[in-house]
Amino acid sequence: MSEKNQNRTSPLPSAEDKARFVQEMFDSISPRYDLVNRVMTFKMDQSWRRFGVDSLNLQRGSKILDVACGTGDFVKILKKMNYEVVGIDFSIGMLSHANIDGLAQGDAMSMPFAEGSFDGLTCGFALRNFADLGIVFDEFSRVLRPGGRLCLVEVSRPTNGFIKFGHGLYFDRIVPRVGALLSSSEPYKYLPASTAYLPDEAKLRAMLLSSGFEGVNFKYFLGKSSQVITATRSAAL
Ligand SMILES: C[S@@+](CC[C@H](N)C(=O)[O-])C[C@H]1O[C@@H](n2cnc3c(N)ncnc32)[C@H](O)[C@@H]1O
Repeated sequence: MSEKNQNRTSPLPSAEDKARFVQEMFDSISPRYDLVNRVMTFKMDQSWRRFGVDSLNLQRGSKILDVACGTGDFVKILKKMNYEVVGIDFSIGMLSHANIDGLAQGDAMSMPFAEGSFDGLTCGFALRNFADLGIVFDEFSRVLRPGGRLCLVEVSRPTNGFIKFGHGLYFDRIVPRVGALLSSSEPYKYLPASTAYLPDEAKLRAMLLSSGFEGVNFKYFLGKSSQVITATRSAAL
């Protein structure tokens, strides 16, 4: 980690160091990533992924790419449903804790796949971690075939007063403590703070449209504390 990031007071890295910071952070928390995730979300993360997979509305056997696959939660669900799956992530630590075939190390900003290689693409809880979301959305569009389906699962911030207060208490105060207790402290301060990187619905929609997607749809869960975004790769670009 750069000296600048070691000395910073914010849980967020500097812009130029974000990719390296994120990669090293996920390497370091990979051994207990699954445990902390399940505890933090009361296992609801899996139901949001399953909802996302169903929303792809693709035939069994379709070829699906899971970007930023981490320890393979999406990949395992997709394989169980008989899809042909490839997973890609840049953290060797996360990949090494997946214990499944079909995963490879790679960067979402420049993926080693030809244009139109996939019928579907999933990406879970990674949008706020990418150094440049616009470049990543362009890559998603490039590797999907025309008519291919996209599903993004992410955290979100409630906007309703009472829910917003309760969520803030849990996500900003309790989650970092649970993370510190079960895994390590700094990464679980980054997690809630990193929602600052997430564009709002209007901006995300505009970005996806400009990357060549259509039919962009947002579905929120648990008082808007998580979101599943689906879209279709336009036939004509
Ligand atoms: C919060 S984890 C989510 C893992 C998994 N998708 C899930 O649903 O549990 C974010 C993942 O994004 C990966 N990641 C972040 N930036 C990346 C990039 N540019 N290329 C590939 N993977 C990236 C990290 O290594 C990490 O595994």
